[in-house]
Amino acid sequence: MSEREQWGTRIGFILAAVGSAVGLGNVWRFPFQVGEQGGATFLLMYVAIILIIGLPAMLVEFTIGRRSQRNPIDAFEKLGHREWSFVGILAVITGFIILAYYSVVAGWTIRYTGASITGAYFDDPAGYFGEVSFGIEALGFHAVFMVIAVGIVAFGIKRGIEACTKILVPAIIVLLLGLIVFGLTLEGAGEGLTYYLTPEFDALRDNWMELLPSAAGQALFTLSLGMGAMITYSSYIADDDNLVVDSGWIVGFNTAIALMAGLVIFPVLFSVGVDPADPGPGALFVGFGEAIAEAPASELIGAFFFGTVVIAAVSSGISILEVIVSFVIDHFEVDRIPATIGVGVIVFIVGIPTAFDGSILDLYDGVVAEVLLPLGMGLLVLFAGWFFTDAKDELLKGLGPATRDWLPTVWLWHIRTVILAVAVLVLILSSGGAYETLMEILEATE
Ligand code: TRP
Repeated sequence: MSEREQWGTRIGFILAAVGSAVGLGNVWRFPFQVGEQGGATFLLMYVAIILIIGLPAMLVEFTIGRRSQRNPIDAFEKLGHREWSFVGILAVITGFIILAYYSVVAGWTIRYTGASITGAYFDDPAGYFGEVSFGIEALGFHAVFMVIAVGIVAFGIKRGIEACTKILVPAIIVLLLGLIVFGLTLEGAGEGLTYYLTPEFDALRDNWMELLPSAAGQALFTLSLGMGAMITYSSYIADDDNLVVDSGWIVGFNTAIALMAGLVIFPVLFSVGVDPADPGPGALFVGFGEAIAEAPASELIGAFFFGTVVIAAVSSGISILEVIVSFVIDHFEVDRIPATIGVGVIVFIVGIPTAFDGSILDLYDGVVAEVLLPLGMGLLVLFAGWFFTDAKDELLKGLGPATRDWLPTVWLWHIRTVILAVAVLVLILSSGGAYETLMEILEATE
């Protein structure tokens, strides 16, 4: 096998991982989850899960990726545990499903960038979303997004992914800051802030069985965890990187961007009188559509905002695609370009039903976030905690002297016990929910 590519620089790796993490999960999925789950109470649980589960779980993927220098399927064999390869296969299957509907939603954002310039949704944002979100045109934009993602991934990690995200990530932050200032000047913004930032502890106690799987699913989704994306990205990094510091930056950036997106969205929704629970997956489009239509220079602000979201979606979509493609390349010894195109076509096909039917899109999304990702993460944690004997050693590499003595041991026992227990609990709680959703869909199609 040829010499494996590595990231050009450490910051290049961090930005690429941030680029993977920051995406529709932050600006589309996060706000509609907050909206459906009642606001600040969900937010509180979500932030707790990010810190207690997300950060250490990211280190699980990093240690597996860097030690093995392989895609998530071959990694296990390289680490001497071939019998675990099924986890990698689960990861690749999950990747196909995520990218399939992710691309449909990303297609909406491409459409809205153009529709902002023409002002197409300004008169009736809710009606417009209803008209364009599903159907043949949505399918067309799904195709456009896949073509973009395939184009970037086909050029390889250094020239493609790293070069793009170095520019994209800082651009996203600057744009969001501008939009927060804009949102906070709207009338009624304060009410939105209260809803978003004042948790109710009674609600936490009463609803935790519903909040926990949603918050955990959202945390895994937004951090790109549970399907090997971070295994793949960290398989290209150097041995002397401090994984703990790197993951701190990645989780910090990602959480900051989601919180910022919320700071834009909730004040805006309240200022136009939209109940944040109402629009579901349309929250981003309906809420912002209304606000942008009211704003001065609607065309410009709209194109700026949705353009930013497209950029974020591209840098995440390519990380999902890269998992599948790097597997195909390493495994079947296919060249990168045909491998990428082939995978892109299959993903497109898997996504077709979600471009036509909202309940199928919901089903894909729910199964991914609350079943497949927690399952993948649970298995990875089980493996790293109890079977991958070098996990602690791998974490130790590149750690500063202040933390060397205790941090790897604390981490190991944390993943062995706390995270594993939470993963099992989430799966128990969410399988009930997934079953209900499936039954609803079956009933609706009868
Ligand atoms: N984290 C990305 C987002 O928030 C989506 C994503 C990229 C992802 N790679 C992933 C989600 C891997 C789950 C697993 O938009």
